[in-house]
Amino acid sequence: MVLKKKLFINGEWIEASSYTTLTSPYSEEVLAEIPSATEKEVNDAIEAAYNAREIMAKMPAHKRAAILEKLVSLFEERADEAAKIIALEAAKPITTAKQEVSRTIATYKFAAEEAKRIHGETIPLDAAPGGENRIAYTVREPLGVVGAITPFNFPMNLVAHKVGPAIATGNPIVLKPASQTPLSSYFLAELLEEAGLPAGALNVVTGSGRVVGDKLVTDDRVKVITFTGSPAVGIGIRNKAGLKRVTLELGSNAALIIDNGVDLDKVINRTVVGAFSNQGQVCISLQRIYVHENVYDAFVEKFVAATKNLKVGDPLDPQTDVSALISKGDVGRTLEWIEEAKQNGAEIATGGIAEGNVLLPTVVLHADKSLKVSCQEVFAPIVNINKVSSVAEAIELVNDSRYGLQAGIYTDNVHTALDAAEKLHVGGVMINDIPTFRVDNMPYGGVKESGVGREGIKYAVEEMTEMKLVVFNRN
Ligand code: SIN
Repeated sequence: MVLKKKLFINGEWIEASSYTTLTSPYSEEVLAEIPSATEKEVNDAIEAAYNAREIMAKMPAHKRAAILEKLVSLFEERADEAAKIIALEAAKPITTAKQEVSRTIATYKFAAEEAKRIHGETIPLDAAPGGENRIAYTVREPLGVVGAITPFNFPMNLVAHKVGPAIATGNPIVLKPASQTPLSSYFLAELLEEAGLPAGALNVVTGSGRVVGDKLVTDDRVKVITFTGSPAVGIGIRNKAGLKRVTLELGSNAALIIDNGVDLDKVINRTVVGAFSNQGQVCISLQRIYVHENVYDAFVEKFVAATKNLKVGDPLDPQTDVSALISKGDVGRTLEWIEEAKQNGAEIATGGIAEGNVLLPTVVLHADKSLKVSCQEVFAPIVNINKVSSVAEAIELVNDSRYGLQAGIYTDNVHTALDAAEKLHVGGVMINDIPTFRVDNMPYGGVKESGVGREGIKYAVEEMTEMKLVVFNRN
């Protein structure tokens, strides 16, 4: 019998009036029937969150932390089940899915800790004439209902980056998970129910972006929108959201510079992971590599050899490195982009074809920067390697992009490293690492079309709270 999920609204599991079928991106087997919420059901979810805002805002920090700590222990108990859900619905290779679950646990741990240190500061008002004899301090207050719209590529951890800080700050949430990966969010709702989160503080509504997303973005009771996804949708959200606080984590075509003199054997495996982990469906996936001409040939040879060693196939097989793209449409799109690159003089050093819904890890050499595989976000296991004559030239090429999430540089020269850190126009520069590096307490977000605002619990706490000033006149 096919699993039939229910909406989670106001602490209750509600049968929906209409359903869509969820299938595995790899095997295409039916996984579950997923509710498609109507506008009325989204409205009910927002109303439930709105009604829960006082109880959440007044909940003491130790209680909010305790709920998150309990969530952590439930996740630890059910980690294998969680990883299997991710592997099935997202086609994320199980080894990588397990890493995602470990990161999810770490993210909720950081949220539990952060809940206990949300504070303001005292302000010396007597620094300004007329400010004497006053005590001034700030506090941070929860903003109210958070509308969280999350992507398919990290269906547990990118949800944790929104739900964790929302609970830590005492904000209720309406969560709209990606339509491709709803099971992870329903699993989370079960755990949070068991962890003692009050009814209405988390609501999970699945359905179309037009119905669920639009309602969240335009409803006045929702005070914060936190979105991870494509720049086109993010920009649309920003235009419709009015005065809501909006955090947008959007895409990129992340780049890495390899300087002359770098020990290639130390960097090859790491760069291959950066390019192909989770099928390249990562906002900071390594899409462009600019290699100094003196080491270019050796780098390409080693990189292509390591790529050919990757095992493609079933996400449930622990040996699998690369599995299916999230949809058939994405397989078609990426094959077209590869074809465009070939037609325009690029060389496909390996890959370039699909087996079922698995696009083989693809290495593209000397593609012009105007080609889609280079200038658009590929979100697939495709990497471009290009030769440069200097780091300065590479920095210009990295910056010649609509996006600016993270960039990396491998160099043995500290001056070159610091120069790159200053000149790269991105949200985060990784020196002697790939742009794909992320741990969950670091500030994470981009410039240009890569988004606005920062995640990484402490920073998301700032996005989800309002500073209030209190001035006590002792005159
Ligand atoms: C993303 O795709 O933006 C998230 C990357 C990560 O958390 O590693």
